[in-house]
Amino acid sequence: MINIELINEAIHRYYHNSASPVSPQLIESILYSVDSGGKRLRPRLFLELLEGFGLELTQAHYDLAAALEMIHTGSLIHDDLPAMDNDDYRRGRLTNHKQFDEATAILAGDSLFLDAFALIAQAGFQAELTVQLVALLSKASGTFGMVGGQMLDMQGEERHLSLAELAQIHRNKTGQLLSYPFTAASILARQPLEIQSQMTQAGYLIGQAFQVRDDLLDLTASFSELGKTPKKDVQAAKATYPSLLGMEASYRILNQDLDQALAIFHTVAEETQFEMTKMTHLVEGLRLHG
Ligand code: IPE
Ligand code: IPE
Ligand code: MG
Ligand code: MG
Ligand code: MG
Repeated sequence: MINIELINEAIHRYYHNSASPVSPQLIESILYSVDSGGKRLRPRLFLELLEGFGLELTQAHYDLAAALEMIHTGSLIHDDLPAMDNDDYRRGRLTNHKQFDEATAILAGDSLFLDAFALIAQAGFQAELTVQLVALLSKASGTFGMVGGQMLDMQGEERHLSLAELAQIHRNKTGQLLSYPFTAASILARQPLEIQSQMTQAGYLIGQAFQVRDDLLDLTASFSELGKTPKKDVQAAKATYPSLLGMEASYRILNQDLDQALAIFHTVAEETQFEMTKMTHLVEGLRLHG
């Protein structure tokens, strides 16, 4: 059974184990966002996948799960800044720049992005594996991943995009960090390249589904359900699936993407020892019906 508390502990250990904290205020603002909740979906997927492949979870696995969550949390802190989505609430609390100030929030995000890699490097994976896990996470997070997608998202405001352009935004800003757990878990479970790439593809499908779901919830859910201000995407004239295709088509795409991901799990389960029960449960939990 995966233990979510061990992810939080791994993050806290990283920030509290240093002999010199340099700036306790910086650490306070980092932990404010880390500790404000969040579904921990990406680390959860990673750990469930490892267990599905029959691995016994170790501290190193929890460290990698923690590193992934750190990058995600950093991306949210920056996403909320006035220069980006300008949001006042996140995970049911004031956003980092509202609680502290903009400079602190920018630096807290910078720290989370960079600290994640030290945490992986120190986790104790075999050297070659460490290099591979670090390179893939850097790619999924940076210019050729989440940050690149965020750039396209900002440029897409107030513009009418094609479906292909919108899919490209979602694949990068959200899909890449959601497919990382699938690639990393397949590598750690020593799966052949063919299985790794099928699992990565399932991750991209879940990533697209997840951002379409977020876009739908922005329109339909309340502040208390979201922990963030609803209906922000219309206000900012964001390019989203509901704005381009309407709500009904968006629900359909969300559920079709999840179906396709589940079909990949079936194939992988037939070809390997992969036990898909827990993953199926997690993925089913992402469905929405209009
Ligand atoms: C929000 O991610 C940003 C998107 C990629 C849609 P989550 O919905 O996973 O946010 P938390 O971690 O639960 O707060
Ligand atoms: C953010 O997408 C994706 C990130 C890379 C952080 P959104 O801007 O839709 O996420 P929310 O709605 O603010 O959580
Ligand atoms: Mg955004
Ligand atoms: Mg946002
Ligand atoms: Mg959103």
